[in-house]
Amino acid sequence: MNTLTLAHYYTTPDVQAMADYVGDSLELALIAQREQTDRIVFAGVQFMAETTKMLNPAAQVILPDERATCSLVTQTDIEALKQWREKYHDHVHVSYINSSAVHKTLSDWIVTSRNVDDIIASIYAEGKQVIFSPDRNMGAYLNYQYGYNMPVWDAVCEVHDKFKDEQIQYMIEHAKADGDVYLLAHPESPLPVLKRADVVGSTKQMLDWVNKFNGDIRSTIYIATEEGLLHNMRTLRPELNLQQAPIYSGCQCNACPYMKRNTVDLVKRAKQGEGFEIDYLDDDIIEKAKAPIERMLEFSKQQMEKTAA
Ligand code: 13P
Ligand code: SF4
Repeated sequence: MNTLTLAHYYTTPDVQAMADYVGDSLELALIAQREQTDRIVFAGVQFMAETTKMLNPAAQVILPDERATCSLVTQTDIEALKQWREKYHDHVHVSYINSSAVHKTLSDWIVTSRNVDDIIASIYAEGKQVIFSPDRNMGAYLNYQYGYNMPVWDAVCEVHDKFKDEQIQYMIEHAKADGDVYLLAHPESPLPVLKRADVVGSTKQMLDWVNKFNGDIRSTIYIATEEGLLHNMRTLRPELNLQQAPIYSGCQCNACPYMKRNTVDLVKRAKQGEGFEIDYLDDDIIEKAKAPIERMLEFSKQQMEKTAA
């Protein structure tokens, strides 16, 4: 049996070392859609494994630990979401990929942190109105950055929501004594942190920025995202001073408890077919949820082709 192992950047370095591909949500979804294999082990969280199953229904998809959920999913009550969606029935509903399969069936577009800006801009360019769910911080940032007035759902990533602007400002002010200071932040972070950031982007976009960094080597680069990404950044650029942004003064840890459910032992077992199999999505849900995901993937593929040309 052919087994493909995918891992998100937020898993631990030893788990990432067991994977065929490590990436952000968009990259892993594109790989899941493209690859032909009998089994996919997804070292990540449940919504990512569900997306994988929808895009590659022939493969057996296994999440190493069924407790690997996401606060953006667990904080979203689906009945309330249906009513909200109904209230704005004349709006285009754009949902972040960090959402359950049923949530996706109630959406017109799915987006990731890498393509959300461009997809929403393209919808507004058609003269349509948008509602955004489930990430309150990402929605607030988009409204602030582009002057939209999208109604936004009220859920947060419990990991990124902990970043505190006051503490980050304090650390930045002190680091200035040593040279230039940069702040890179994932768009799930609170709006004051995003307003302060030099770069707002997906895990992959922040990694690429660090990889290409050609500023002063003495600079301090603060990263406001889950700590796992620091490993990838430090592997690419060990000479840089890369620091986890603080969640409160002195504390530089910020781990996702769900991503960290993927232990080496559980991933080993999953590769043997043991673990939480994504076999519970019925055909109707897959059909309805897959359409907005495929719409997004097509949009991003076209964009990537244009950039490459
Ligand atoms: P990325 O798509 O940027 O990898 O983000 C996924 C995620 O869960 C962030 O918390
Ligand atoms: Fe969900 Fe946040 Fe963990 Fe990403 S880091 S999987 S958004 S809880």
